[in-house]
Amino acid sequence: MTTTAVTHIASLVTNDPSLGNGTPLGLIHDAAVVIDGDRIVWTGESSKAPATDNVLDAAGRAVIPGFVDSHSHLVFAGDRTEEFNARMSGQPYRAGGIRTTVAATRAASDDDLSANVARYLAEALRQGTTTFETKSGYGLTVEDEARALRIAGRHMDEVTYLGAHIVSPDYADDPAGYVDLVTGPMLDACAPHARWIDVFCEQGAFDGDQARAILTAGRAKGLHPRVHANQLSYGPGVQLAVELDAASADHCTHLTDADVDALAQGNTVATLLPGAEFSTRAEWPDARRLLDAGATVALSTDCNPGSSFTSSVPFCIALAVRDMGMTPDEAVWAATAGGAAALRRTDVGRITPGARADLVLLDAPSHVHLAYRPGVPLVSAVWRRGERVV
Ligand code: NIG
Ligand code: FE
Repeated sequence: MTTTAVTHIASLVTNDPSLGNGTPLGLIHDAAVVIDGDRIVWTGESSKAPATDNVLDAAGRAVIPGFVDSHSHLVFAGDRTEEFNARMSGQPYRAGGIRTTVAATRAASDDDLSANVARYLAEALRQGTTTFETKSGYGLTVEDEARALRIAGRHMDEVTYLGAHIVSPDYADDPAGYVDLVTGPMLDACAPHARWIDVFCEQGAFDGDQARAILTAGRAKGLHPRVHANQLSYGPGVQLAVELDAASADHCTHLTDADVDALAQGNTVATLLPGAEFSTRAEWPDARRLLDAGATVALSTDCNPGSSFTSSVPFCIALAVRDMGMTPDEAVWAATAGGAAALRRTDVGRITPGARADLVLLDAPSHVHLAYRPGVPLVSAVWRRGERVV
C-alpha cells in the first residue's frame, strides 16, 4: 500500500479527547497525519512523523475529519422554488408540500433520480462531506419506496426507509390502511435495501401511536430506528425515540424539559438541522440547552427540496454558532463525531489510527474559521477512504 503524510498542519481536529489539548476536539498543533490505503495509521506532531511514500505540506492550514451528514432526503425529482418564494413572502411551512415532490419523483426515471443523487453528493463532497445518510420518502408506494432505496444504495451505505414521511395521497381517506402498508408489504420490499427506519412523527404526518407501530415493525425486520421528532410542534417523537433506543431524534426544535432530560439520559443523539429553520423561517432549536443538559448533539443538513435545500455542512455550522448557542468547537464536533454517533459509527468522524482516512484540508489556520468566515468556500482538499477526491 502507498503511504501518504499530510504535514505541518497548523491545527488538527482529531476528535480524540486523549490527544492534544485534552478538549473533545483533541486539537494538535503543528501536526501530521499518515494515511495507509484507506485508513489513518498515525497522528502526532509533524516533527515526529514517520517517513512515507508521499508528503503533502499543509503549510499552516487546518485539517478536520470529513463531515458526517447523518440526515438528508436526496432521492427526489423537481424542486419547490415557488413554495420557497411563497414562504419568503409570509406563507408558513407545511408538511403537505411533500406531496409536490412525491408526484415529481414518481414520474421520474431511475436514471434521472440516480443522477440527482450523484449531483448532490458531489456538491456535498466539495464542501467536505465524506459520509452521507439518505432516505426514501418521496415515493410512498411499495415500488417507488423500494426503488428509492435501491438507488440510494448505489451511492452510499447509510440508507433509511421513510415510507412514513406523510400518509400517501392515495390513502388520504384511510391513514390506518397506509400504516398497514408501511408496516406490511412496503416494509417487506424495503427492508433488504435499508439499514434504518424513520418516521415523520408530527401533526399532519404520523402520531405517536402510528410512529411506534411503524418503528416497532421495522425493528422486527432488522432495521434500526431514527425519528423526525418535534420539528414543527411539541409532541411524542423525542420520548418515543429515546424509549425505542433510536440512534437519533432529528430536528428537536420544540422540546419540553422532559424531552431534554430524556435525550440527556438516553443513548439517542439529538440531531439539529438548522438549514430547515433557515429555509422555513422557523425558530431555532436550542443547542445550548441540550448541551448544558448533557445530550449528545449532531448537526446535519436535512438536504431536501422542501424545507432545507442545502448540502452545505459549513453553512449549518455557521448557523448553529450564530443562532443556536454553540461554540465553534461544539459545532465542528457535532458535524463530525456527532454525525458519526447519530449513525452509530466509530470508523468515521475522527482522525485517529484505525479510522477511515476521511480528511478535509481547510484554506484557514483553524476550524473556527468555518463559523468565522461564513459563506466562504474554505474546503481546499478532501480525502475519502484515503483517496484524494477534491
Ligand atoms: O426533514 N420533516 C419532514 N421531512 C423533511 C421535509 C421534506 C419536504 O418538505 O419535502 C424535513 O424537513
Ligand atoms: Fe428530514
